[in-house]
Amino acid sequence: MSESDALVAAARAARQHAVAPYSGFRVGAALETAAGIVFTGCNVENASYGLTICAERVAMFKALSEGHRTFTRIAVVADTDAPTPPCGACRQILWEFAGDIEVVLANLERITATHCMRDLLPYPFDGRLL
Ligand code: THU
Repeated sequence: MSESDALVAAARAARQHAVAPYSGFRVGAALETAAGIVFTGCNVENASYGLTICAERVAMFKALSEGHRTFTRIAVVADTDAPTPPCGACRQILWEFAGDIEVVLANLERITATHCMRDLLPYPFDGRLL
């Protein structure tokens, strides 16, 4: 049992709610706050395609909108052998609001990779540059 197992289980459960009729690619995410509260998200697609939002950003925006500001880890789950890392837009958002958190990637059976945000988004643009 890894300490990320419960977070990964939450991401797998969230993936069940994915709204992905266009891509068929269902993703779940679970974001842990410093207080140990977990916010989940799934990808939500729509007919415009371009207004699709990824599971990671749904989880983060849910947490932020509930007043949470400090985070420790995020788990991302897809039904693939290869890990599904956060897209560029999600990396930007995760970096700005969560900083150098752990990113646990998993599929329906196992954890496939673990990274830290500073490696996923080297040389970031963020508020320190404004
Ligand atoms: N997607 C996510 O939700 N998270 C990722 O990390 C990668 C991609 C979604 C967006 C879209 O609904 C589908 O997966 C295919 O790109």
